[in-house]
Amino acid sequence: MSEICLGIESTAHTFGIGIVDEEGNILYDEKSFYEPPVGEGLTPRKVFEYHAGNVGKIVKGAISREISVVAFSQGPGLPNCLSLGATIARYLSLKLNLPLVGVNHCLAHIEIAKMLTKCKDPVVVYCSGGNTQILALVDGRYRIFGETLDIPIGNAFDMLARILGLSMPGGPKIEELAKSGKWVELPYVVKGMDFSFSGIVTECEKLCKKSVRKEDIAYSFQETCFSMITEATERALAHTEKNEVLVTGGVAANRRFNEMLEIMCKDRGAKLYSVPIKYAGDNGVMIAWTGMKMFKTGITTRLSESQIKKDWRVDEVDVKWT
Ligand code: ATP
Ligand code: FE2
Repeated sequence: MSEICLGIESTAHTFGIGIVDEEGNILYDEKSFYEPPVGEGLTPRKVFEYHAGNVGKIVKGAISREISVVAFSQGPGLPNCLSLGATIARYLSLKLNLPLVGVNHCLAHIEIAKMLTKCKDPVVVYCSGGNTQILALVDGRYRIFGETLDIPIGNAFDMLARILGLSMPGGPKIEELAKSGKWVELPYVVKGMDFSFSGIVTECEKLCKKSVRKEDIAYSFQETCFSMITEATERALAHTEKNEVLVTGGVAANRRFNEMLEIMCKDRGAKLYSVPIKYAGDNGVMIAWTGMKMFKTGITTRLSESQIKKDWRVDEVDVKWT
């Protein structure tokens, strides 16, 4: 009989549950998203309270299905949000007598993108609210070739959005504004394979105070940050001698980012794969699918080992599947 895995995502702003079968068919996919008031970041207590009041419907819809494995986001993320998802997963596992699998959230962004795009062995560009990393699978682990030295790119988008008075999540609004913007000079900060965004945000804030057009700030911000990541990705491709690039995480939804990576890939004879927009941001399906892959290679998580790992890095996870 085919296994059916239920996966719970609850690392930050999104609470989601997905159910998938062994072939990757998506049988259930529901989520709710906490949107902070304009000008405010994510306050852990408020996010938690929002989720706690909203998960009922999503959980109820999911548990009416036949399932054989329960997976959950074990980390990294906001501790109280992680605990909420982990507690529901532990309860389901005990109540239904099903194996439990703790999934690394970052790995799940990669695995769902691989499954949906069918790419094989890519250099991964993982750009989200909490991470900005260039990785590749080497000897059974995702090794980090380059990463942000300070804030993640999605976080930089959200900070800039707050400065410009836009609502959360900031990425899509900045992308829209940028369409009618013109170039203004911003710092370009690449150090070896790593990059940094906080100085760029500070410079944008100064420009905003000087009444530079929001559109121009948005445009120049995008062009600068995405060029930096594209440059480091190109070097990772050269270094690893791979011929696929996979872009995933919430920021992968950005069209201009995809365009730049596409041009670079073409120049190098590589192929760009981009996670479908619907699964770019956090979702339960990515946890269910990664849980399924882990389960199929014999990995389960004992209750005594199911404590949340708020700082769990992707390069600490053994990847025993292809
Ligand atoms: P992590 O995966 O590192 O834990 P996260 O789960 O918070 O972080 P995601 O849900 O993967 O992040 O992505 C959310 C981020 O993506 C937000 O910062 C949002 O602004 C950004 N984002 C979404 N759409 C776009 C877009 N079109 N352009 C740029 N950024 C975008
Ligand atoms: Fe995420």
